[in-house]
Amino acid sequence: MPANPQIITLPVATRLLRPEIVYFEQIDSTNNYLLSNHAHPTGTIVMADYQTAGRGRRGRSWEAPKGEALLFSCYLAVNPVETPLFIYTFIAAVSVREALQKNIPNASFYLKWPNDILLEHHKVCGILVQSKIVSAQKAIVVIGIGVNVNQSAEFFQRWQTAGSLFSLTGKRFDRTDLLSDIVVSLDNWLQPEFTRQPEVVLRQWKLHCPFIGRMIQVDDGKHIFSGYFQDVASDGGLVLRSDSQVHLFHAADVTIVKEY
Ligand code: BTN
Repeated sequence: MPANPQIITLPVATRLLRPEIVYFEQIDSTNNYLLSNHAHPTGTIVMADYQTAGRGRRGRSWEAPKGEALLFSCYLAVNPVETPLFIYTFIAAVSVREALQKNIPNASFYLKWPNDILLEHHKVCGILVQSKIVSAQKAIVVIGIGVNVNQSAEFFQRWQTAGSLFSLTGKRFDRTDLLSDIVVSLDNWLQPEFTRQPEVVLRQWKLHCPFIGRMIQVDDGKHIFSGYFQDVASDGGLVLRSDSQVHLFHAADVTIVKEY
C-alpha cells in the first residue's frame, strides 16, 4: 500500500470531476490504484509525483523522473448502455490537447490515433483508458494521463519520438496549473451532451489529426500493414486502405510514413 495521500484542492469549478486531488508522492501506478478496491467516489482524480510501475498502452511501461511529469488518473462510474466505453479514449485526447493548446497557443498540438498527443512530431502525452464492467448498467472507467512536462531533452535519448513541453519549447511549466486546465477541459467533454453523442467527440478529434489521408503503418502486434489512413470509424476503429482492401483496427500502434 502506498503511504497516506494528501489532498490538493484545485481552484476550479467542475460538475463531474472532483477538484480535491488525491496526491501520492509515490505509488505503483495511479491506474492500478483506481482499478483496485478503494472507497473513492466517481469523479475522483489521483495524482502521483512518481510511479514505480507506470503502465502504458499495449502492455508497455510508462516512465518519468520524480516530480517532472504530470501523472494522474480519473475514476468514473458510468453507464455503458448510455455511453460506449471507447469514447472515453477520444474524450481524454481531445480534452488534454485543448488544455495544452491553451497553455502554448503558438504551438500546434496534434492527435495520433488513438490518443497520443504530439508536439513537433514528438509524443508529449500518453493516455491509457482501462475499464471494468460491474453490471449491465454500470462500468468503471479509469482514464490515466501522463504528460511530459519538465523532463530535459537528455531524458528522451532512449525514446527519440518523445519529448516534453520543456524539451520542445525551452519553457518550464507549473504542473498544478496545467492539471487545473486539463481537469476543466475534461470535465466539459465528459458532460452528457458529448458522452451521449460520440460522433461529436470524434468530429473534434479528427479536426486535430492531420494524418487522415496520409500514408501510415499500423502494427497490430502480429503484422505491419501499410496504407492510407482513411478514417476513424464510428466505433473509434482506425480504417486503413491498402491497395483495394480496407482494414479496421481497434488496438494497434501507428507510425506516420514520411512522404517526400
Ligand atoms: C501510453 O502508452 O501512451 C499511455 C501512457 C499512460 C501513462 C499514464 S501516467 C498516469 C497513469 N498511470 C499509469 O500507470 N499510466 C497512466
